[in-house]
Parts: sequence; structure tokens; C-alpha cells
Amino acid sequence: MKSGALERYRIDPLAEGVPFGATVSGLRLAHLEHPTVRKALFDLWIDKGVLLFRDGDHTSEMQIELSKCFGVIARQVFKETWLEGNPDLVKVKYYPDDGSCYDVDGVRLGGYLAWHKDRIYTDSLNRGGILRPIQLSEHGGETGYLDQISAYDRLPEDLKASIDGLHVVYAMDLNFENHKYLRPDNIRYVRGAKSFLSISAREYQYPRVLHPMVYTQAETGRKVLNVSPSFATGIYEIGGPEGDALLREVLAHCTAAGNTYFHAWRPDDMVLWDNWRTLHSSTGVPEQETRVMQRTTISGDYNLGRNLEGGEGLPKFDV
Ligand SMILES: [Fe+2]
Repeated sequence: MKSGALERYRIDPLAEGVPFGATVSGLRLAHLEHPTVRKALFDLWIDKGVLLFRDGDHTSEMQIELSKCFGVIARQVFKETWLEGNPDLVKVKYYPDDGSCYDVDGVRLGGYLAWHKDRIYTDSLNRGGILRPIQLSEHGGETGYLDQISAYDRLPEDLKASIDGLHVVYAMDLNFENHKYLRPDNIRYVRGAKSFLSISAREYQYPRVLHPMVYTQAETGRKVLNVSPSFATGIYEIGGPEGDALLREVLAHCTAAGNTYFHAWRPDDMVLWDNWRTLHSSTGVPEQETRVMQRTTISGDYNLGRNLEGGEGLPKFDV
């Protein structure tokens, strides 16, 4: 892409063998003055789902302006996570003396997050976000991304038929030890960050919601396997063991290694993800290390989530 006297920026695959994502190298704030560049980046994001920005400008200003190429920045709903009072930037952090920590298979992990979709426990899904490191840990601290368009494509045909038209019920519970699906066998909650405890105290203010297991990406017509193991409580149309087994099988296919990418951060990286068609996770850091990131939230809703409270307008099965 040529932009006046600016150097070109470059587009490469995210990583070898990964069926989604792209790396954008050398992008500068000045590139974003060109509407054609903004449109090209938006189209690339819709096509690829995850964009890694590397070796370009790396400031809060760049992070915010770049986010605006993909939508309107949303004010983060959890006040506890605002960065120095700025509602456009969310602080994602782990400190040994203020951080959420789990024991997973005998290893204590700070800032561990299982596969999830942001805000899936509400009836609207924000569009995405851009994550940028401020202080990286010495060890660990990878962010996982998982593409649900590839996941749908790879799903066996009989499973595609089985989940057609079904929905998953989600409930707000930030404690990964309590989650029902794909939880590591030996996970134990050790302690929560102050923000985690403050937000968790309000968990029962969130009604259960449901989201379709499959939907179609509007711009391309591709199908998305829209399931998140975290926060899921079951299949709405098929409760009990039968639905449980089906959801477990679908989630296992969804999170198979072929659909995932784990990003090892460099200090000047930024990563944009499409929250409507991907899951993300965090491998966590050793208990005594610190990791600080900041992210933007890009607003929007795919308008397919529904509030389960009261069951208004939902199909009833009892006579
Ligand atoms: Fe997240």
C-alpha cells in the first residue's frame, strides 16, 4: 500500500499453517489518514478475523485511532478496569499482590483465562478489541486465538446437522473453577484480583442469555461455530445428558488445535480480534511475575443474543 511519502506496510500470514489471521507490519499513524487504508484494513479483518500489527507505531494514540477503523470505541462497562480513568482503554493486568490466580495441574498461573468470547454472558456481543502490551512477563503470558469459521468448516457433517437451529445458554460467573465445559480436570481458584471480586459480587444481576450455535457472517456468507466453553451452561433446546454430550462434542471439535493460534508477544505488538467469530484465552504467567496489557473495546452487536429471563417469546416445550 502506497501512501504519499510513507513507506509501504506489509501483509503476511499470521503464522505458518494457521488457517486464519494476518500480520500487518510497519503500519504508521499517518497511514490511517487515508480512507482507502482504513477500508482495506477493515476488509482484511473481516476476511481474516485476527490481525497482528508489528513493527509499526505503538502508542495509546495509535491503538485508539486504529480501533476506530473497525468501529466505534465502546466505553468499558466495568469501571473497575478503566485505565487511569480513561473509559476508552481497559487495563488487563496481573500483579502478584493484585491478580486473579488459579492452580492448574499443580502450577499456579496468574491471569489465566480459558477459551471465551467477551460478554457472551450478556445478550449482546461487542465487535472486538485491540490488545497492546505495556509490561510483559518474563515467562508465559501467551494469548490464544481460535477461529470459529475454520471450526465450523471442519466440523463433521453429522454434527453440523445436529446443531442446526440450536442455542446455548450462558450465565455470568467469572470463576473458571466453576465452569462446566472443557475445564481442566485439576483447576482450583486460588485468589481473585480486586476488580474480579468487585465485578463477581454483581454476578446475580445478570440474567441467563442464549446465543445461536451457528450464524452466518453477514459480509461473506460464511458460517460461524458460535460457541464458548466458558460461561456455557447447556443447550437450550436439549437439556439433560443428551444436550450435555452434544455440546461437549461440539466444543471439543471447536477448540481442536487446528483452529487455534497462540501469540507470544513482542513489546511493540498489537493484536486486533473479531469477537463475533473468534474465541480467545490467556495461558497465564508464573505467580510471582507481572503482566500489564491495555485494550480497546470496539462496540457493536450481532443482534442474535436473547435474554432468557422470563422466557418471553421463547419456544416452550411443556404442554
Ligand atoms: Fe476476553
